[in-house]
Amino acid sequence: MTPLFGGTLDPYSKPAKVSGLACADCHADFDEAVNPDGKIRSGHSIVGVPHRGQAKGGMIKGDMFRRAAGGGGFCYQHFLQRIPADKVDPTAIPAEQAEALMAYFESVSGDNNGPQFQMKMLDKDAANAAADKIVGMKGDSQRGWKLFSRACNDCHPTPKKAGIGSQLVRSKPPKDIEKRKHKIAAYVRKGGVVMPFFAADLLSDQDLADIITFLGELSAGRKR
Ligand code: HEC
Ligand code: HEC
Repeated sequence: MTPLFGGTLDPYSKPAKVSGLACADCHADFDEAVNPDGKIRSGHSIVGVPHRGQAKGGMIKGDMFRRAAGGGGFCYQHFLQRIPADKVDPTAIPAEQAEALMAYFESVSGDNNGPQFQMKMLDKDAANAAADKIVGMKGDSQRGWKLFSRACNDCHPTPKKAGIGSQLVRSKPPKDIEKRKHKIAAYVRKGGVVMPFFAADLLSDQDLADIITFLGELSAGRKR
């Protein structure tokens, strides 16, 4: 069973400190290359984590690696407890939960090294530069609609309805659609408070161009 950390949820804390997200909302616990289920997740599969030996682009390594649940300790604090990324201590996850997670990663991984990727977290300038490029690309709104449902829908239930994520398309068109599209592209590349970033190997620049074309048309009130 996928650990859900239900025990960290404190329904009495005000304002709510917890996001309501679980590890499995953003990471597959199976090999997505072998068994694609159509979803595009912001996190890579946890298959292969024990073989990596380092996480977060080398920020988590050595003795810290197991204690930080292979990098999951960062997510535990940031995405589940809503602690700002620059204040996160990836080893603050209780030791027994880190151990249980590593044992779980080992049991689903076996010899499978999992997806190969280079982790890069973009700062604001780099995310804006990525967005500059994306808004200049020609997008396909039909394809964008399908990609939205695979990548965004779990948290933004439809573009016009808020879920864990906010309502992306308002009833009134934004003053400047191009600026709005740029903001969306930059936000996806950089991530937000609880919103995870999507790296280019999971959602390509073309994919994002298609998604912002779709959202841009909806925002402008155009029927599709
Ligand atoms: C809101 C989405 C989200 C949630 C919830 C989340 N993660 Fe992550 N996680 C990410 C993203 C995005 C990354 C960075 C991309 C990547 O490395 O896959 C990441 C990175 C990781 C990594 C390190 C990958 C690497 O090698 O750098 C591990 C391990 C991990 N998460 C495990 C977990 C565990 C365990 C939980 C639950 C306690 C969890 N995550 C919850 C989105 C999430
Ligand atoms: C795991 C949940 C999750 C996923 C998946 C997700 N979002 Fe979000 N999103 C959020 C949350 C939560 C917020 C509220 C602000 C924050 O926490 O950063 C948000 C906020 C945003 C914002 C900023 C608010 C605004 O209207 O300007 C944009 C833009 C956005 N999301 C776009 C997207 C797009 C596009 C996708 C798909 C590629 C996506 N999100 C996928 C959770 C998610």
